[in-house]
Amino acid sequence: CGIVGYVGDRDASGVILDGLSRLEYRGYDSAGIAVSSGDKLIVKKKQGRLKNLQDYIDKNPIEGHVAIGHTRWATHGKPSDENSHPHSNATESISVVHNGIIENYIEIKKELIEKGYEFLSDTDTEVLAHLLDLYLEEDFFATIQKVLKKVKGSYGLGILNTKYPDTVFCARKDSPLVIGLGKDENFIASDVPALLKYTKDVYFLENGEIGIVKKDSVEVYDIEKNEIKKEMVTIEWSLEQATKAGYPHFMLKEINEQPEGIRETIKRRVDENNLIHFDDINLGKEELKAIKDIYIIACGTAYNAGLQGRFALQKIAKIKADADIASEFRYSDPFMDETTLVILVSQSGETLDTLAALREAKLKGAKTLAITNVIGSSIAREADNVIYTWAGPEIAVASTKAYTTQVVVFYMLSLYIAKLKEIITDEDYTTILNGLNEVPEKIEKIIAQEDKIKAIAEKIKDCTQGFYLGRGLDYSVATEASLKMKEVAYMHTEAFASGELKHGTIALIEDDIPVVAITTQSSLFEKSVSNIKEVKARGAYVISVTQENNKVVEEVSDEVIYIPETDDLIAGITAIVPLQLLAYHVSAMRGIDVDKPRNLAKSVTVE
Ligand code: G6P
Repeated sequence: CGIVGYVGDRDASGVILDGLSRLEYRGYDSAGIAVSSGDKLIVKKKQGRLKNLQDYIDKNPIEGHVAIGHTRWATHGKPSDENSHPHSNATESISVVHNGIIENYIEIKKELIEKGYEFLSDTDTEVLAHLLDLYLEEDFFATIQKVLKKVKGSYGLGILNTKYPDTVFCARKDSPLVIGLGKDENFIASDVPALLKYTKDVYFLENGEIGIVKKDSVEVYDIEKNEIKKEMVTIEWSLEQATKAGYPHFMLKEINEQPEGIRETIKRRVDENNLIHFDDINLGKEELKAIKDIYIIACGTAYNAGLQGRFALQKIAKIKADADIASEFRYSDPFMDETTLVILVSQSGETLDTLAALREAKLKGAKTLAITNVIGSSIAREADNVIYTWAGPEIAVASTKAYTTQVVVFYMLSLYIAKLKEIITDEDYTTILNGLNEVPEKIEKIIAQEDKIKAIAEKIKDCTQGFYLGRGLDYSVATEASLKMKEVAYMHTEAFASGELKHGTIALIEDDIPVVAITTQSSLFEKSVSNIKEVKARGAYVISVTQENNKVVEEVSDEVIYIPETDDLIAGITAIVPLQLLAYHVSAMRGIDVDKPRNLAKSVTVE
C-alpha cells in the first residue's frame, strides 16, 4: 500500500492525488483521502483504481491545505469503499492511513466493541482510529504513544486530528515512512517517488519513531518522547527517472534502462584498473576464511536472481551456496551459525518474508548481507552489510532492471571473493569482468531486435500455456522468463530443467504449444539440442534463445532469437532480456495493464 501526507499552502488534495499516482504500484485496489478543512475532516474513499477517486474529487473539490491519502492492496477485508483508508473515529475528528498489519487487532476490536465502538470496515487499521479516540487526551502525542504501545505488528502511519488542523502526525514500525522537507511545506510518504516532484530532501523514519509534521517545522521523537535529531538525506533519483519518459509502460522503460543501470552498478564498484571494491562489506580475507557456506534468500524475481547468484558463487568463488525462497526458509530449520553468510536479495528492501528471514539469520548468529535497490530500506538497514544495485526506481510490478543488476552484483561479488581467495587466474578474472563490462552494450543490441520479438509475441499471444526449457545456468533464466510471462501476460507457463522433461512433463507437450528453449551454454549445447528435438517431434512450436554462433539451432526451432556472443558464464544476464520483451509484448497485445497486473503488488509487506 502507499501513503502520502501534506501540510503547506498548496491545494492538499492535488498534492495527495499526485503523490498517490506515483505509488499506485504499491497497491491499487482502492484509494482514499482525508483533508483537514476548517474545523472538520473531509474523508473520501473509492474502490478501484486511483482514477475513481480522482474523478470524484475533480467533480467535488475539497478545500484544504493539510491532508493524508492512501492507495491500498487488500490484506484484511476485500477491496471496497468501506475497507479503503483513511479510517476514522465515529465523529470523523481523527483519521488514519496505515501500511502494515496490526497483529492483535482481533482482541483489540473485541475490547472496543464491548466499549460501544462501532466498526464500519473489516480492516485491522480501523482499530487504530477507535483506539486513538478511546485514549484521547489533551496532548495528542501522549494518545499516540498509548496506542502504539498497545498494538502489535507493523505500521507506517499518517494521522490527522481536527484539534491540530495544521499538523500531520506519522509513525513507523517495520513499514517504511519518509518525511519530505520543503520550504513552507512538508510531506510524508511511504516511498520516495511520491515526493520527488516537490522535494528531494527527506528524513527516513526509523522503527519506533513518531513525527510531528507542520508547514514550517518537523519534529521527530522516539516512543518515550525523547527528541531525535534526524539526518537529512538528499535523494539522487529525478522525477523523470521515476516517470514513464515517453514509453507506453514502465515495464518497457525499465527493460530499456537495463544497460544504464548495469553500467552504474558496475561503476560504483569497479575502478579503472579493473579492481572490484567491496571494502565496506566486511568480507576481507580473514572474514572469508570464517565463512563455510552461503544462503541466498529472496522472493519472486529476486529469488530467481539468487539462482543465478548461487551459480556464480559456486562456479567462480568456489563456495557452497544455496538459494531458498524467503517464505519457506524458516520452516526448514536451516543450519546457520557464525560460519554462514546469508545474502538477502530484495529490490524494494521491504519484502516482509525476506526481512523475517534476515532477522532469523541474525538471531542465529549468521553474517548478513543485503543486495537491494532502495537506500535506507528496512533490509538495507537491518543487514550487517549492504550492496546496492543502481537500477534507479523500479515502478512496474514485474521486475526487470532490478533483476539484471542483482545478477551483476552476484558476479562482481563472486569475482571479488575468488580473487581474495586467490583461486582465479588473472586471465579468467579479466575475461569474466570484461564480459560483465560488455553486458550493457549487448543488451542494447538485443533490444534493437524488439520488432522481431514483437512478431513472435504476435504468434503466441492467444496461447493459453507454454513451457520454458534450460539446462544449467539456462534453467535459472527459464525460471525467471516463465515468471515474467505468468505475471504480466497471464499465460500459464512453467520452466523445466531440459533433462527432467522426459521424466514426466513431456506428457504435456501437444501440437503448437510454445516452448522457449534457452541454449546459451556451449558445453551443454548438444544435450540441449536433443531436448529441443524431443519437444519438436511432439508438435511444439519452438522459440530458441541462443548465442550468435549456434546456428544449428535453426534446424530444430521455429524461431530463433540470437543474443550477442558472450562468455557462457554470464550469458544468463543477457539471455533474459529478449524474454522480458516477449512477455511484455504478449501482455500489451492482450490488453493487460502491463505495469499493474491483477492481484499483484510491487512491494509485499505482509507475510
Ligand atoms: C512481489 C513483486 C515481485 C518481486 C517480489 C520480491 O511479489 O510482485 O515482482 O519480485 O515481490 O520483491 P523484492 O522487493 O523483495 O525484490
